[in-house]
Amino acid sequence: ANRPKLGPSPFSVPADLPKLPEVPGTDPTRCVLDSFRISIAKTIADALEPLTIEQVYQGVDYGKKGEDFTVALPRFRLPGKVDELAKKVLDKFQPDDWIESVTHDRAFLHFKCRTTTLNRLILDQIHALTYDTESKKPEYGSNDLGEGKRVIIEYSSPNIAKSFHVGHLRSTIIGAFLANLYKACGWDVLSLNYLGDWGTQFGLIAVGFEKYGSQQALEENAIKHLLEIYVKVNADAEKDPKVREDAAAWFKRMEDGDEEALKNWRVWRELSIKKYEEEYARLNIHFDEYTGESKVGAQTMDAALKKLQEMGLIEEDNGALRVNLEKYKLGKAVVRKRDGTSIYLTRDIGGAIERYEKYKFDKMIYVVASQQDLHLAQFFKVLELMGYDWAKNLEHVNYGLVLGMSTRKGTVVFLDQIIREAASVMHDQMRKNEEKYSAIEDPEQTALEIGITGVKIQDMAAKRINNYTFNWDRMLSFEGDTGPYLQYAHVRLSSIERKNPELLPLPAPSQLNLATLVEPQAREIVFLLGTYPDVVKTALKTHEPSGIVTFAFRLSHAISSAWETVIVKGEQDREKAKARMALYLSARDVLGAALRLLSIKPLERM
Ligand code: ARG
Repeated sequence: ANRPKLGPSPFSVPADLPKLPEVPGTDPTRCVLDSFRISIAKTIADALEPLTIEQVYQGVDYGKKGEDFTVALPRFRLPGKVDELAKKVLDKFQPDDWIESVTHDRAFLHFKCRTTTLNRLILDQIHALTYDTESKKPEYGSNDLGEGKRVIIEYSSPNIAKSFHVGHLRSTIIGAFLANLYKACGWDVLSLNYLGDWGTQFGLIAVGFEKYGSQQALEENAIKHLLEIYVKVNADAEKDPKVREDAAAWFKRMEDGDEEALKNWRVWRELSIKKYEEEYARLNIHFDEYTGESKVGAQTMDAALKKLQEMGLIEEDNGALRVNLEKYKLGKAVVRKRDGTSIYLTRDIGGAIERYEKYKFDKMIYVVASQQDLHLAQFFKVLELMGYDWAKNLEHVNYGLVLGMSTRKGTVVFLDQIIREAASVMHDQMRKNEEKYSAIEDPEQTALEIGITGVKIQDMAAKRINNYTFNWDRMLSFEGDTGPYLQYAHVRLSSIERKNPELLPLPAPSQLNLATLVEPQAREIVFLLGTYPDVVKTALKTHEPSGIVTFAFRLSHAISSAWETVIVKGEQDREKAKARMALYLSARDVLGAALRLLSIKPLERM
């Protein structure tokens, strides 16, 4: 899955503006706020020798409410009083087309960007990077930080024949976001679904299948049928220990590669994957590769165990082997059972080794619930102890619990129950407004998309590690910070073109008189739009989708505050009306980009 490099940006900083030096790590052709920051850094560096522009640049932060950028002077550890330092900067400062003014407040300097320059450059950059890219795809917000580097992102990873629980749902949602995010940052991304497709439960199912299995039911819905069998045979095993013994014997045959014992299992696996693929597609999510615990080679695991034994890390416990990680406060962990079969931990050790051999990744991310923190820490540590240099490039992206998810029909066990419930609750919600409802073209599909948006936004709205309570009514309401609210904001922005056909075709922003955008509400939107490339970079550092969600809400709120004053329809001055329309269309494009990054399909109508 090699990715072509990001092409040259179709946007460049206009030559009529004051020239600025280049600063490493910045790219005004993709984030034009970089230029404003460079201008500020230059002003300060010129005034406060021996500071360099690069040094100051690191200290140019976004300002609080009402300020564009703020610099805290003490961070430079210069001799002299802060007030004197500030005065030197103020004396030297000359307003220009980048920076309009600077004010001094205690240890801080606040800088205000020239509004006309902001309007012009930001809207122009968004337009160019949305419609004029070499890739023919929208690129605003993208960067080339990961160029030439490969990342493997493993996520979702449900267990065949067991239920798909909210933990898997979170992994799916967060993992899909990370895959999009790394792509947007220039990485070559390989997404993996590591199925729980191996282990004693398959011995149980094999035993159960003889009693309860139906070929037809299997073909209709493999996931559902296998779980039914699993539940029944588990109940049998409770009553009759013989069932478990038979199951263990069966699984041992599978581990030994007995074709006869593997035959059915292969079909189960394949049909389950087919079903999963359909469901993921409805969520707008896909995987480059379906792998699984079954795919980890026995030789790899044997060799790893041998090596661990030689290193003196293995101790015997009643016929089983375990690795002692007490020195690292990671306890003792079994790596081979008494009957010689492998277990979850061993497979993860072997799996990582094989993935490195095959893909030579620069980074590998596991998106797994924080309940498995210890497990991941254990196998990362084992790989490190084994001397694999790449072990330091393994990363666990964890997340908290989801509480109380059930549907109106009961407990959730399948992914498609979640999807269907989201669609149907949303559908009911929409039907409450008869008038609006009748105007919707395809209410079923629309309800599905908005419902899924609600689920995803609720999941990504807060820091990953927080637990949250699943609440259908709250997440699917059009009021408050919800998925439906964001879709509504996007739809409203999309309606502007339909409602103002007399202004179309709208020329590119560079051909418009954007100086007419003078309202503070308009400025707020423009500035926010300009921050989007930074929001993406921050998300890459934190692996937090909430940064993108927060941005989408801030933008939507700013738009709704502008809606009444910064009007398009009814504005007599055509120049003004067009500039405003360009502003809203840029907002639509950026909100759309943010939603797509979150794996959500932005809607044009509802
Ligand atoms: N299938 C596992 C479960 O449902 C999650 C797998 C996580 N990934 C891993 N490499 N261990 O608990």
